[in-house]
Amino acid sequence: MLFCNNFILTIVLFTSSVLITYSKHTKEGKEGKEDISTCYSPKLLLKGAQEGSSDGNIIKDSFSNVKEVKFFGSIGPLGEKRLCKIKCIGGQWVGPLCIDEQAEKGRFQPLFRNCKLDYLNPHLMLTLRNITIQDIGLIYPHGSTLKIRCRDIGLYKLLGSANPKCENGVWSARLPSCVPTTLFTNFTEEAPPTIIFKIPSGSSSIESGGELAIYPGTTVHLECIFSRHLGSPDWTWTAPLGEYLTGWAIAPEERDWKYRLSIYYAKEQDSGTFTCATPRGITNSLVLQVAAIHCEPITEIDNLMTMRSEGTKLGHKVYFQCQSGYQIKGDHNITCQLSGKWSAAVPTCELVKCPLFEENSNLTALHLKIEEQNNSYGGRIVFSCDWGYRLRGLPGIECELNGTWSGSPPKCAIIQCSAPIITESSNLLATEITGMDGGQYTVGSLLQFSCNNSLTLIGESTIICTETEVWSHPLPICNIN
Ligand SMILES: *[C@@H]1O[C@H](CO)[C@@H](O)[C@H](O)[C@H]1NC(C)=O
Ligand SMILES: *[C@@H]1O[C@H](CO)[C@@H](O)[C@H](O)[C@H]1NC(C)=O
Ligand SMILES: *[C@@H]1O[C@H](CO)[C@@H](O)[C@H](O)[C@H]1NC(C)=O
Ligand SMILES: *[C@@H]1O[C@H](CO)[C@@H](O)[C@H](O)[C@H]1NC(C)=O
Ligand SMILES: *[C@@H]1O[C@H](CO)[C@@H](O)[C@H](O)[C@H]1NC(C)=O
Ligand SMILES: *[C@@H]1O[C@H](CO)[C@@H](O)[C@H](O)[C@H]1NC(C)=O
Ligand SMILES: *[C@@H]1O[C@H](CO)[C@@H](O)[C@H](O)[C@H]1NC(C)=O
Repeated sequence: MLFCNNFILTIVLFTSSVLITYSKHTKEGKEGKEDISTCYSPKLLLKGAQEGSSDGNIIKDSFSNVKEVKFFGSIGPLGEKRLCKIKCIGGQWVGPLCIDEQAEKGRFQPLFRNCKLDYLNPHLMLTLRNITIQDIGLIYPHGSTLKIRCRDIGLYKLLGSANPKCENGVWSARLPSCVPTTLFTNFTEEAPPTIIFKIPSGSSSIESGGELAIYPGTTVHLECIFSRHLGSPDWTWTAPLGEYLTGWAIAPEERDWKYRLSIYYAKEQDSGTFTCATPRGITNSLVLQVAAIHCEPITEIDNLMTMRSEGTKLGHKVYFQCQSGYQIKGDHNITCQLSGKWSAAVPTCELVKCPLFEENSNLTALHLKIEEQNNSYGGRIVFSCDWGYRLRGLPGIECELNGTWSGSPPKCAIIQCSAPIITESSNLLATEITGMDGGQYTVGSLLQFSCNNSLTLIGESTIICTETEVWSHPLPICNIN
């Protein structure tokens, strides 16, 4: 058995292409001398490597007598590592089989089918194991449980299951939706009430699950938005010992639509769900977590970076900045979260980059080609035009300090020769060679001449439109004698 301990094979299962191909045992080639228990070398492709490239076949030249190949696969959108193997059975590679540490301990199993997520309502926010997923359209491995919430907590109410799970190719529940609340419906009675929170003192963090996490001692005002002339809403809470002031706001511009609940100097016992119910019983809730959590102070930063820290308590932020000519790679600010971890890794500084131009169908449609490109600050991109097209404007643009290109790409104009002027008295007969562009006279167009009435042609009988937008020769003439 070959155990490839340090070889990491990337199986990109989330694009449903398993980058491992293994030759089928065919009759061609080794005819006659077939050993049914031997498999041909599996073609192992590293992520991104070309099929058939020299680094494709990596492990071993000969796979005779090899019954099993083990490797680490990286599976799903978070690149989770799993020990996988393929087995040689009856002359064919079978698998991959992988160990799912979360599920059955230590058993190699066939991979279950993945689930796909093609569309996500823009109000929804999705996290997988506390990591926010940005790209929709990814494929999730069997067993993944998503955590879904409405992006703007309090402004939308989630309808449906917040935790769909992928079960062998099928989501366990329909994806939820976000219902707009009173603030967006002109205070209709049918809409759930909007909940707005205000933190006049203290610190808070919005957690990936949509909870509002605050450090003890923080003061929070929860405002239930409802039209007072339709009646008064009602606040309820799950904190068993909680006693809170509720009532309509006092300020004249707020008193007819903000029904408040205030938590002064929150304690851990104030944690719980706060629900506002309208007179018709329509509700919206906010989950509050009060915890004395501290994050590790940030000590090491990029030497091109400066930082400003509010502190290390739950809800405190740290802001980062890079020197001129550099931009932040990562988040510009991070927040201390309930988990005791910062909301993201400390960013780094990188040279300012402009968006890369790619040779795509858009450029092709404009007949533009990229001659050279350096999208770092101070670098430039130089364009050229397809054959038969002429550049209008400067061929190059520069990448500026703010990460934008100094202008738009140049334009390409088609090169055309003007139609030759043939007077009737000249007796010249012109024919465009078939296969040309029909009177457009672009580069390479050929015109052929002859004379009417059997007159003698003097000059070139064929002229061609050149790249300089002029014909290769003057018009011939017909000699009258
Ligand atoms: C996600 O974060 C919560 C606290 O915010 C923590 O209790 C939980 O263990 C985390 N889950 C994972 C999978 O990291
Ligand atoms: C909102 O409701 C008020 C009173 O019901 C009405 O006068 C107003 O026209 C409505 N506005 C919109 C944008 O529907
Ligand atoms: C914090 O970072 C987020 C995203 O990186 C950004 O949208 C927000 O404006 C930043 N806040 C401040 C106060 O800089
Ligand atoms: C082409 O341009 C359009 C509009 O500018 C843009 O939406 C589209 O993504 C571009 N296509 C490619 C392949 O870049
Ligand atoms: C790109 O341009 C920058 C600024 O002029 C320069 O420092 C860098 O070396 C260039 N990179 C390459 C790969 O040429
Ligand atoms: C970037 O900087 C250039 C020149 O400094 C300026 O003309 C341009 O408007 C800026 N673009 C943005 C998006 O700020
Ligand atoms: C050719 O000559 C004849 C008379 O000689 C005239 O009728 C005809 O229009 C001429 N054709 C062209 C294309 O010049």
